[in-house]
Amino acid sequence: MLVRTRTIGVCGTDIEIIDGRYGWPPPGRDRLVLGHESLGEVIDAPADSGLRAGDLVAAIVRRPDPVPCRFCAAGEWDMCANGRYTERGIKERDGYASDRFRIEPGFAVKVDAALGDLGVLLEPASVVAKAWDHTEKIGRRSRSWAPKRALITGAGPIGLLAALIGAQQGLDVHVYDHATSGAKPRLVRDLGATYHNGDVTVLDTLAPDVIVECTGAPQVIARVLTRSAASGITCLAGVSSGGYKIDIDLGSLNRELVLENDAIFGSVNANRAHYELGARALARADQDWLSRLISRRVPIDRWQDALHREPDDVKVVITF
Ligand code: BGC
Repeated sequence: MLVRTRTIGVCGTDIEIIDGRYGWPPPGRDRLVLGHESLGEVIDAPADSGLRAGDLVAAIVRRPDPVPCRFCAAGEWDMCANGRYTERGIKERDGYASDRFRIEPGFAVKVDAALGDLGVLLEPASVVAKAWDHTEKIGRRSRSWAPKRALITGAGPIGLLAALIGAQQGLDVHVYDHATSGAKPRLVRDLGATYHNGDVTVLDTLAPDVIVECTGAPQVIARVLTRSAASGITCLAGVSSGGYKIDIDLGSLNRELVLENDAIFGSVNANRAHYELGARALARADQDWLSRLISRRVPIDRWQDALHREPDDVKVVITF
Protein backbone atom coordinates (compact mmCIF):
# COMPACT_ATOMS: atom_id res chain seq x y z
CA MET A 1 0.00 0.00 0.00
CA LEU A 2 1.04 3.57 -0.53
CA VAL A 3 0.28 5.91 2.38
CA ARG A 4 0.54 9.70 2.71
CA THR A 5 1.93 10.56 6.14
CA ARG A 6 -0.15 12.98 8.21
CA THR A 7 1.25 12.82 11.71
CA ILE A 8 4.26 11.23 13.41
CA GLY A 9 4.55 11.00 17.20
CA VAL A 10 7.87 11.56 18.94
CA CYS A 11 8.77 9.49 22.00
CA GLY A 12 11.71 8.83 24.31
CA THR A 13 12.92 6.05 22.02
CA ASP A 14 13.34 8.54 19.14
CA ILE A 15 15.38 10.83 21.37
CA GLU A 16 17.59 7.92 22.45
CA ILE A 17 18.16 6.95 18.81
CA ILE A 18 19.08 10.53 17.92
CA ASP A 19 21.49 10.62 20.87
CA GLY A 20 23.10 7.42 19.55
CA ARG A 21 22.08 5.39 22.63
CA TYR A 22 19.66 3.02 20.85
CA GLY A 23 18.53 1.98 17.36
CA TRP A 24 20.12 0.31 14.35
CA PRO A 25 20.20 1.49 10.69
CA PRO A 26 19.28 -0.96 7.92
CA PRO A 27 22.17 -3.35 7.15
CA GLY A 28 24.87 -1.72 5.00
CA ARG A 29 23.56 1.81 5.66
CA ASP A 30 24.51 4.48 8.15
CA ARG A 31 21.19 6.34 8.20
CA LEU A 32 17.80 5.39 9.60
CA VAL A 33 14.57 7.20 8.77
CA LEU A 34 12.85 7.78 12.13
CA GLY A 35 9.16 7.59 12.99
CA HIS A 36 7.44 4.57 14.52
CA GLU A 37 4.27 6.27 15.82
CA SER A 38 2.34 7.02 12.65
CA LEU A 39 -0.93 8.16 11.21
CA GLY A 40 -1.39 8.30 7.45
CA GLU A 41 -3.97 8.36 4.72
CA VAL A 42 -4.13 5.54 2.19
CA ILE A 43 -3.32 6.70 -1.36
CA ASP A 44 -3.47 3.33 -3.02
CA ALA A 45 -4.23 -0.17 -1.68
CA PRO A 46 -4.75 -3.61 -3.26
CA ALA A 47 -8.43 -4.45 -3.79
CA ASP A 48 -8.27 -7.42 -1.37
CA SER A 49 -6.68 -5.42 1.47
CA GLY A 50 -9.97 -4.24 2.96
CA LEU A 51 -8.57 -0.70 2.82
CA ARG A 52 -9.37 2.06 0.36
CA ALA A 53 -7.90 5.38 -0.72
CA GLY A 54 -8.73 8.00 1.91
CA ASP A 55 -8.81 5.54 4.86
CA LEU A 56 -6.76 6.55 7.89
CA VAL A 57 -4.23 3.98 9.06
CA ALA A 58 -1.62 3.53 11.77
CA ALA A 59 1.30 1.35 10.76
CA ILE A 60 2.57 -1.54 12.91
CA VAL A 61 6.17 -1.12 14.08
CA ARG A 62 7.64 -4.61 14.35
CA ARG A 63 8.23 -7.21 11.62
CA PRO A 64 8.73 -10.92 12.36
CA ASP A 65 12.24 -12.35 12.34
CA PRO A 66 13.27 -14.16 9.13
CA VAL A 67 13.71 -17.62 10.70
CA PRO A 68 10.90 -17.28 11.97
CA CYS A 69 10.80 -18.27 15.65
CA ARG A 70 7.61 -19.95 16.85
CA PHE A 71 6.18 -16.67 18.17
CA CYS A 72 6.85 -14.69 14.99
CA ALA A 73 5.47 -17.57 12.89
CA ALA A 74 2.20 -17.20 14.80
CA GLY A 75 1.97 -13.40 14.35
CA GLU A 76 3.26 -12.79 17.90
CA TRP A 77 6.31 -10.81 16.78
CA ASP A 78 6.10 -8.80 20.00
CA MET A 79 7.31 -11.97 21.77
CA CYS A 80 10.15 -12.74 19.29
CA ALA A 81 12.45 -15.35 20.82
CA ASN A 82 15.67 -14.82 18.86
CA GLY A 83 15.96 -11.03 18.77
CA ARG A 84 16.19 -10.97 14.98
CA TYR A 85 12.91 -9.06 14.59
CA THR A 86 13.11 -5.67 12.90
CA GLU A 87 11.26 -2.45 13.79
CA ARG A 88 10.39 0.39 11.45
CA GLY A 89 12.06 3.58 12.57
CA ILE A 90 14.01 1.76 15.31
CA LYS A 91 15.74 -1.44 14.26
CA GLU A 92 17.12 -2.07 10.78
CA ARG A 93 14.12 -0.71 8.84
CA ASP A 94 13.29 2.84 7.86
CA GLY A 95 10.44 4.42 9.77
CA TYR A 96 7.40 6.36 8.67
CA ALA A 97 8.62 9.97 8.99
CA SER A 98 8.64 10.59 5.25
CA ASP A 99 6.00 12.29 3.05
CA ARG A 100 4.86 8.89 1.85
CA PHE A 101 5.59 5.32 2.84
CA ARG A 102 4.85 1.87 1.53
CA ILE A 103 3.57 -0.87 3.78
CA GLU A 104 2.27 -4.42 3.56
CA PRO A 105 -1.53 -4.20 4.14
CA GLY A 106 -1.30 -6.75 6.97
CA PHE A 107 0.79 -4.23 8.92
CA ALA A 108 -1.61 -1.31 8.58
CA VAL A 109 -4.43 -0.89 11.10
CA LYS A 110 -7.49 1.09 10.08
CA VAL A 111 -8.19 4.05 12.34
CA ASP A 112 -11.72 5.28 12.94
CA ALA A 113 -12.20 8.46 10.85
CA ALA A 114 -13.85 10.09 13.90
CA LEU A 115 -10.50 9.86 15.72
CA GLY A 116 -8.74 11.89 13.00
CA ASP A 117 -5.16 12.82 13.87
CA LEU A 118 -5.59 11.40 17.39
CA GLY A 119 -5.06 8.06 15.64
CA VAL A 120 -1.33 8.77 16.00
CA LEU A 121 -1.84 7.65 19.62
CA LEU A 122 -2.62 4.12 18.45
CA GLU A 123 0.97 2.85 18.57
CA PRO A 124 1.56 3.88 22.22
CA ALA A 125 -1.98 2.68 23.03
CA SER A 126 -1.12 -0.74 21.53
CA VAL A 127 1.92 -1.01 23.81
CA VAL A 128 -0.17 -0.42 26.97
CA ALA A 129 -3.05 -2.56 25.67
CA LYS A 130 -0.54 -5.42 25.53
CA ALA A 131 0.71 -4.66 29.06
CA TRP A 132 -2.87 -4.83 30.39
CA ASP A 133 -3.71 -7.90 28.31
CA HIS A 134 -0.75 -9.83 29.74
CA THR A 135 -1.48 -8.57 33.26
CA GLU A 136 -4.97 -9.96 32.97
CA LYS A 137 -3.69 -13.28 31.60
CA ILE A 138 -1.25 -13.62 34.49
CA GLY A 139 -4.02 -12.66 36.93
CA ARG A 140 -6.08 -15.57 35.74
CA ARG A 141 -3.57 -17.95 37.39
CA SER A 142 -5.96 -17.57 40.33
CA ARG A 143 -9.71 -18.17 40.04
CA SER A 144 -10.23 -15.39 42.57
CA TRP A 145 -8.36 -12.67 40.67
CA ALA A 146 -10.42 -9.49 41.04
CA PRO A 147 -8.13 -6.43 40.96
CA LYS A 148 -9.43 -3.23 42.52
CA ARG A 149 -6.54 -0.80 42.65
CA ALA A 150 -3.85 0.00 40.07
CA LEU A 151 -0.75 2.14 40.36
CA ILE A 152 0.84 3.62 37.26
CA THR A 153 4.31 5.13 37.65
CA GLY A 154 5.03 7.86 35.10
CA ALA A 155 2.51 10.28 33.60
CA GLY A 156 3.96 10.53 30.11
CA PRO A 157 1.82 9.34 27.18
CA ILE A 158 2.42 5.66 28.03
CA GLY A 159 1.54 6.15 31.72
CA LEU A 160 -1.52 8.23 30.91
CA LEU A 161 -2.78 5.71 28.35
CA ALA A 162 -2.17 2.91 30.88
CA ALA A 163 -4.19 4.94 33.40
CA LEU A 164 -6.95 5.41 30.82
CA ILE A 165 -7.27 1.64 30.26
CA GLY A 166 -7.20 1.01 34.02
CA ALA A 167 -9.99 3.56 34.50
CA GLN A 168 -11.97 1.98 31.65
CA GLN A 169 -11.77 -1.30 33.58
CA GLY A 170 -13.35 0.38 36.60
CA LEU A 171 -10.18 0.23 38.72
CA ASP A 172 -9.24 2.72 41.42
CA VAL A 173 -6.28 4.20 39.52
CA HIS A 174 -3.33 6.02 41.11
CA VAL A 175 -0.62 7.72 39.05
CA TYR A 176 2.81 8.76 40.31
CA ASP A 177 5.00 11.29 38.48
CA HIS A 178 7.52 13.99 39.38
CA ALA A 179 5.48 16.82 37.77
CA THR A 180 4.01 19.07 40.46
CA SER A 181 1.66 21.13 38.28
CA GLY A 182 0.42 21.53 34.74
CA ALA A 183 -1.22 19.20 32.26
CA LYS A 184 -0.27 15.84 33.77
CA PRO A 185 -1.94 16.14 37.20
CA ARG A 186 -5.05 17.59 35.53
CA LEU A 187 -5.20 14.78 32.95
CA VAL A 188 -4.94 12.20 35.75
CA ARG A 189 -7.66 13.85 37.86
CA ASP A 190 -9.95 14.20 34.85
CA LEU A 191 -9.84 10.42 34.48
CA GLY A 192 -11.20 10.16 38.01
CA ALA A 193 -7.79 8.88 39.15
CA THR A 194 -5.55 10.05 42.01
CA TYR A 195 -2.28 11.87 41.32
CA HIS A 196 0.80 11.47 43.52
CA ASN A 197 4.17 13.18 43.31
CA GLY A 198 7.18 13.93 45.43
CA ASP A 199 9.11 11.27 47.31
CA VAL A 200 8.39 7.80 45.95
CA THR A 201 7.68 6.59 49.52
CA VAL A 202 4.20 8.17 49.15
CA LEU A 203 3.36 4.92 47.34
CA ASP A 204 4.25 2.69 50.29
CA THR A 205 0.76 2.37 51.76
CA LEU A 206 -1.26 1.99 48.54
CA ALA A 207 -0.97 -1.82 48.15
CA PRO A 208 -2.17 -1.91 44.52
CA ASP A 209 -3.19 -5.19 42.90
CA VAL A 210 -1.56 -4.08 39.65
CA ILE A 211 1.44 -1.83 39.05
CA VAL A 212 2.34 -0.66 35.57
CA GLU A 213 5.84 0.83 35.75
CA CYS A 214 6.28 3.29 32.88
CA THR A 215 9.21 5.47 34.00
CA GLY A 216 12.12 3.05 33.47
CA ALA A 217 13.79 5.02 36.32
CA PRO A 218 15.83 2.70 38.60
CA GLN A 219 14.89 4.54 41.85
CA VAL A 220 11.19 4.18 41.05
CA ILE A 221 11.50 0.57 39.89
CA ALA A 222 13.43 -0.44 43.03
CA ARG A 223 10.72 1.11 45.19
CA VAL A 224 7.68 -0.39 43.48
CA LEU A 225 9.00 -3.95 43.15
CA THR A 226 7.73 -4.91 46.60
CA ARG A 227 4.85 -2.48 46.87
CA SER A 228 2.02 -4.47 45.31
CA ALA A 229 -0.65 -6.18 47.41
CA ALA A 230 -0.09 -9.91 48.00
CA SER A 231 -0.59 -11.86 44.72
CA GLY A 232 -0.05 -8.56 42.93
CA ILE A 233 1.24 -8.15 39.42
CA THR A 234 3.88 -5.63 38.41
CA CYS A 235 4.37 -4.95 34.71
CA LEU A 236 7.66 -3.30 33.76
CA ALA A 237 6.90 -1.31 30.61
CA GLY A 238 9.61 1.37 30.62
CA VAL A 239 12.84 0.71 28.72
CA SER A 240 15.72 2.02 30.87
CA SER A 241 19.23 2.85 29.83
CA GLY A 242 21.86 1.06 31.89
CA GLY A 243 24.70 2.46 33.92
CA TYR A 244 22.81 3.50 37.05
CA LYS A 245 23.58 1.26 40.02
CA ILE A 246 21.42 0.95 43.07
CA ASP A 247 21.73 -1.15 46.27
CA ILE A 248 19.06 -3.80 46.66
CA ASP A 249 18.74 -6.50 49.31
CA LEU A 250 17.96 -9.27 46.85
CA GLY A 251 17.33 -11.86 49.55
CA SER A 252 14.59 -9.78 51.20
CA LEU A 253 13.14 -8.89 47.83
CA ASN A 254 13.05 -12.53 46.81
CA ARG A 255 11.49 -13.61 50.12
CA GLU A 256 8.74 -11.04 49.81
CA LEU A 257 7.95 -11.92 46.20
CA VAL A 258 7.89 -15.66 46.89
CA LEU A 259 5.86 -15.50 50.12
CA GLU A 260 3.31 -13.20 48.48
CA ASN A 261 3.03 -14.95 45.10
CA ASP A 262 3.89 -11.64 43.48
CA ALA A 263 4.53 -11.58 39.74
CA ILE A 264 6.86 -9.17 37.98
CA PHE A 265 7.09 -9.25 34.21
CA GLY A 266 8.38 -7.18 31.32
CA SER A 267 6.33 -6.07 28.36
CA VAL A 268 7.40 -4.52 25.06
CA ASN A 269 5.88 -3.77 21.68
CA ALA A 270 2.53 -5.10 20.42
CA ASN A 271 1.09 -7.44 17.84
CA ARG A 272 -1.94 -6.81 15.65
CA ALA A 273 -4.42 -8.00 18.29
CA HIS A 274 -3.06 -5.37 20.70
CA TYR A 275 -3.41 -2.60 18.10
CA GLU A 276 -7.05 -3.63 17.83
CA LEU A 277 -7.46 -3.53 21.64
CA GLY A 278 -5.72 -0.14 21.65
CA ALA A 279 -8.06 1.17 18.93
CA ARG A 280 -11.07 0.14 21.04
CA ALA A 281 -9.68 1.91 24.11
CA LEU A 282 -9.09 5.10 22.10
CA ALA A 283 -12.58 4.96 20.59
CA ARG A 284 -14.17 4.58 24.07
CA ALA A 285 -12.15 7.44 25.58
CA ASP A 286 -13.40 10.97 26.05
CA GLN A 287 -12.16 12.60 22.83
CA ASP A 288 -11.55 15.90 24.56
CA TRP A 289 -9.32 14.21 27.14
CA LEU A 290 -7.43 12.33 24.40
CA SER A 291 -6.83 15.49 22.40
CA ARG A 292 -5.17 17.05 25.47
CA LEU A 293 -2.51 14.29 25.33
CA ILE A 294 -1.15 15.95 22.18
CA SER A 295 0.43 19.02 23.70
CA ARG A 296 2.29 20.34 20.62
CA ARG A 297 2.04 19.93 16.84
CA VAL A 298 5.23 20.83 15.00
CA PRO A 299 5.28 21.16 11.19
CA ILE A 300 7.88 18.96 9.47
CA ASP A 301 9.93 21.95 8.30
CA ARG A 302 10.56 22.79 11.99
CA TRP A 303 11.12 19.15 13.05
CA GLN A 304 14.00 20.07 15.37
CA ASP A 305 11.51 21.82 17.69
CA ALA A 306 9.74 18.50 18.25
CA LEU A 307 12.85 17.00 19.83
CA HIS A 308 13.09 19.45 22.72
CA ARG A 309 10.92 18.81 25.75
CA GLU A 310 9.01 21.81 27.03
CA PRO A 311 7.82 21.86 30.64
CA ASP A 312 4.18 21.03 29.91
CA ASP A 313 4.75 18.58 27.04
CA VAL A 314 2.90 15.30 27.02
CA LYS A 315 2.95 13.99 23.43
CA VAL A 316 4.60 16.08 20.73
CA VAL A 317 3.79 15.20 17.13
CA ILE A 318 5.22 16.24 13.78
CA THR A 319 2.68 17.16 11.12
CA PHE A 320 3.26 16.61 7.41
C1 BGC B 1 8.18 1.28 20.73
C2 BGC B 1 7.98 -0.20 20.56
C3 BGC B 1 9.33 -0.89 20.43
C4 BGC B 1 10.21 -0.53 21.61
C5 BGC B 1 11.56 -1.21 21.58
C6 BGC B 1 9.14 1.57 21.84
O1 BGC B 1 9.39 2.94 21.88
O2 BGC B 1 6.94 1.92 21.00
O3 BGC B 1 7.17 -0.46 19.44
O4 BGC B 1 9.16 -2.29 20.36
O5 BGC B 1 10.37 0.87 21.64
O6 BGC B 1 12.33 -0.93 20.44
